[in-house]
Amino acid sequence: MTFTLRWGIIATGGISTKFAEDLLVDPSTRGSDVAHKIAAVGSRSVASAQKFIDRLRSDPSPNQWGEDGWNAWGLGNGVLDGAKAYGSYDEVFADPNVDAVYIGTPHTFHHANAKAALLAGKNVLCEKPFTFDLEELDELIAIAKEKKLFLMEAVWTRFHPIAYALQDLLKSGRLGKIKRMSADFSMNYQPDTRPDSNRMIDPEQGGGSLLDQGPYPSVWAMLALHQLPSNTDTDPRVVASYQRIYERSGVDAASTWVVSWKGLAEATLVTDMTASGYDDACVVITCEDADVAIAYPPWRPERLTIVPHSKYEPGNIREREVKEYPTAKAGAGMHYEADEVARCIRDGKTQSERMPLAESRITQRWLDDVRKAGGTVLKTA
Ligand SMILES: NC(=O)c1ccc[n+]([C@@H]2O[C@H](COP(=O)([O-])OP(=O)(O)OC[C@H]3O[C@@H](n4cnc5c(N)ncnc54)[C@H](OP(=O)(O)O)[C@@H]3O)[C@@H](O)[C@H]2O)c1
Repeated sequence: MTFTLRWGIIATGGISTKFAEDLLVDPSTRGSDVAHKIAAVGSRSVASAQKFIDRLRSDPSPNQWGEDGWNAWGLGNGVLDGAKAYGSYDEVFADPNVDAVYIGTPHTFHHANAKAALLAGKNVLCEKPFTFDLEELDELIAIAKEKKLFLMEAVWTRFHPIAYALQDLLKSGRLGKIKRMSADFSMNYQPDTRPDSNRMIDPEQGGGSLLDQGPYPSVWAMLALHQLPSNTDTDPRVVASYQRIYERSGVDAASTWVVSWKGLAEATLVTDMTASGYDDACVVITCEDADVAIAYPPWRPERLTIVPHSKYEPGNIREREVKEYPTAKAGAGMHYEADEVARCIRDGKTQSERMPLAESRITQRWLDDVRKAGGTVLKTA
């Protein structure tokens, strides 16, 4: 029988909406062997939780991908049957019908929310960035370990087809040795047009580009360099960094940092909430015989190009190759990470081999180091 994971979703904002929509997508459209159910939704107000569930049940308009009938499979297959609306997060954590909690609150609340869920005995999938800092993350890891519960940072990009394809390409050795790489998540949020309460502006919510966007350039560095079989550096550190401050609230408008994997290569990682990203390439991996460029966006790319070197220094690869790796036939692509959680819990695992806690610790430390050196104003809630 197909294993079905029963989710409790906390917070009814933007990303929780996308995650919940994806749970209603037919798992066979991505060849999945697990299924999902939304058992409970928690919000700071019960009306908001109920509205969230009602929209999932009844919204006839196309979803963000222009797909009509995006909820039809889920409704026909009981994904929302009996879903409870709660006016607090704690009620979700206490619900015996919830196996795993998805945390979609602003960054600075992740630690408190995940801690409360774990202490209540729930498995946890927590949005990125995992926590405000490494100290908070280490506390969560210790609680999960002690209680033998599953815990994972929701870095959905790791589970997309292009992520596996890139790693296969790099491991194949076709492109020769990796020399260095860069990865950039820029997006013009037009911060001047946003209210002080916006989570990208507000220091209390962990505002700024680094914490929000930083996990994306980081994921490509972790996949391309850290996980390379020839890498022997288990603790890659930031060797240089710079932050441009957004004067209105003191958060960072943009951050740049360099990470070194000793004996292997360096990655230059960039976030910017004031400029648009370069469409043709958000990730560039420079190799001996050709380069790899991954087209924007860094959170859900679908195209990579193998780019031969110039005529001045040609490598062994002479033809440009464009390769497409579509993310899914239906949905946003967040269901892949949900499937991973379901499989791990089904199989009795307390962490994912694809998104291990040790790797979340590494990237969380980078964010800490860049933030401390950059002098941004951020406070924990
Ligand atoms: N994986 C991805 O691609 C992705 C994309 C976007 C965001 N995220 C992450 O998801 C998290 C949430 O982002 P979002 O864009 O969904 O934010 P959002 O739209 O502002 O929603 C955040 C929700 O958190 C709850 N909340 C609890 N305390 C709050 C407070 N003091 N102020 C404001 N909201 C509060 C609210 O829900 P209730 O009122 O229902 O309690 C609110 O709707 C962030 O950590 C972000 O980094 C991930």
